[in-house]
Amino acid sequence: MTVQPVAARDRTDLMALVEAAPHRYRVLTGDRPTGPLHLGHFFGTLAHRVRLQDLGVESYIVIADYQVVTDRDVAGDIPGHVREMLLDQFAAGIDPSRTTLFTHSAVPALNQLLLPLLSLVSVAELLRNPTVKAETAATGDRAMSGLMLTYPVHQAADILFCGANLVPVGQDQLAHLEITRTLARRFNDRYGPTAPVFVLPEPLVGRVPTLLGTDGRKMSTSRGNAIELRATADETRTLIRRARTDGDRRIAYDPVGRPEVANLLELAIDAAFGGLDDVLARGNDHANLIADQKLEQVRRAMNMAYT
Ligand code: TRP
Repeated sequence: MTVQPVAARDRTDLMALVEAAPHRYRVLTGDRPTGPLHLGHFFGTLAHRVRLQDLGVESYIVIADYQVVTDRDVAGDIPGHVREMLLDQFAAGIDPSRTTLFTHSAVPALNQLLLPLLSLVSVAELLRNPTVKAETAATGDRAMSGLMLTYPVHQAADILFCGANLVPVGQDQLAHLEITRTLARRFNDRYGPTAPVFVLPEPLVGRVPTLLGTDGRKMSTSRGNAIELRATADETRTLIRRARTDGDRRIAYDPVGRPEVANLLELAIDAAFGGLDDVLARGNDHANLIADQKLEQVRRAMNMAYT
């Protein structure tokens, strides 16, 4: 079924509209696998993801492994982080038999979409992106990589390859949604004036716009100020109490300290879904199928289909 863009007059209470007709929507969202998910993710988008999935909306979640290397030379334990990310999503209620979970690096056609999309944006526009600016500022004096500058376009490819018309994101990602819409519009105008290739997506913003971490800055794993989803109720309570009374104290969660819990969770996931590797393999296969089709459509629209 072809998913249509959400009509402008319909944007006010998107969730109510989705509830009334879930089959009209397709959702993509994602996270970079830099560490365990925290409460900022939960209120920002995770709660929405689960709700949309449970309503029967076709759902995709990208584990954005290429985005990890936008601002660091050493990516750390990516397979470990991908694994943690899967576990956290399952714990929150994501069901891999209903939601396609995939990694950037396993879907070549998605990445190739970056090339035509890059041709439609100017360097000046990329330099103006507020999120790129903020993230660069957060990494200190480090020189901005080409991938950092262009990652909003990569993110547009994530959204556009599967024809998502709804993107649950935190407030800080809104500028990326705007770029995505602009690129989709430009591509359609130039290459598909009579048969649009890309659907223009709408953001679905979480209840808490940007959650602050235990030091009062935006909650993020890399700032070490996050309250992780897998913390127990007691740990969460302690972190919150400490955050109120001592804004300077650094909070770091030590997964090595709780191996039993991690192990139990993994056993449960294995039993329920047949193993984490299988979940990703199935998700990546499905994402590749969809991405190949979209790339073919793009090639045809650009008059670059030679076979
Ligand atoms: N940039 C997002 C983040 O840091 C992760 C992400 C990658 C994403 N691709 C996406 C979010 C596509 C929404 C849609 O959280």
